[in-house]
Amino acid sequence: MDIQQITTYDVYKAAAENPEKGLCCTTTPVWKLPDLTVPSRMLEMNYGCGSTVNPRDLSGNPGILYVGIGGGMELLQFSYFSRKKGAVIGIDVVEEMIDACKANLVEAEKSNSWFKSEFIDIRKADALNLPLEDSSIDVAAQNCLFNIFRDDELQQALKEMYRVLKPNGRLILSDPTCEQNIPANLKNDERLRALCLSGALPLNEYIKRLTDIGFGTIEVRAKRPYRILDPIHYETDELIYIESCEICAIKDPVPADGPCVFTGKTAIYYGDNFFDDGNGHTLFSNQPLAICDKTAAALSALNRQDIFISSSTYFYDGGGCC
Ligand SMILES: C[S@@+](CC[C@H](N)C(=O)[O-])C[C@H]1O[C@@H](n2cnc3c(N)ncnc32)[C@H](O)[C@@H]1O
Repeated sequence: MDIQQITTYDVYKAAAENPEKGLCCTTTPVWKLPDLTVPSRMLEMNYGCGSTVNPRDLSGNPGILYVGIGGGMELLQFSYFSRKKGAVIGIDVVEEMIDACKANLVEAEKSNSWFKSEFIDIRKADALNLPLEDSSIDVAAQNCLFNIFRDDELQQALKEMYRVLKPNGRLILSDPTCEQNIPANLKNDERLRALCLSGALPLNEYIKRLTDIGFGTIEVRAKRPYRILDPIHYETDELIYIESCEICAIKDPVPADGPCVFTGKTAIYYGDNFFDDGNGHTLFSNQPLAICDKTAAALSALNRQDIFISSSTYFYDGGGCC
């Protein structure tokens, strides 16, 4: 193990033994679903910076992979939708985290009559080397882990997720992003990185890592304020603002004209009848159509006076053009 891995291991060993409420705080609400009760220790060990669980991805009893399990809250939430033995596979490198997670899941059985620990198959393994067959998973997820990785590790972790996903499978990610240049001294601070505070990439770079691996469709589902690194508490001259993003990367083929990246743009045609762009998009008068950034750029280039294109909301919830 190198220094970074040792630091990460130490941080999460400690976080497994003594739940640390503020470790990765999020403004994303915890799912409230009928008959779902999250045990309090599991809730205290919510070390994610968003949510990767979305019912829209989870119809048809999908096989689910979750990498970096923490206290198991999202494993339990995924199980809510895939209720059979081994339907959710959880991967983590930290033995103590695995033990804590297993104990939380046993506790969860007591307050969730539908739940059995055996729904979740927990394995000790590394995100960089997944112990799974190619094309074997429908939905893969990671929450607040990949930002810890350095460039080459991030690429390897994404490659692994891509490899194990079935065609059209979905990778759901939740990670901090930052549009400012995080100073090298903070970026190279192993502890800050392990705490998910200094490894954040700008959103466009993060998306590019995903499309470079081969994901043909990207959905930016949420972007929320996350943290401030200020000059009093951190070695930085300026205030650094970090956001947290929820993204879904779909293993679709990349279209010939490039990947479809949905950031929440919408086109509204306000002329008469309808407008057909000759490229598969029909806009009906005053009916909003969610469009990817590529389509937004193509429609803008037409310079028409009867099409409005909204800016990115970064809250894309499906229903788009491609
Ligand atoms: C910030 S926590 C997030 C936990 C969980 N995803 C959540 O949302 O609560 C990061 C998790 O990744 C695990 N981890 C760290 N390095 C890992 C690696 N190389 N492979 C797999 N898991 C790793 C840690 O033990 C910890 O459980």
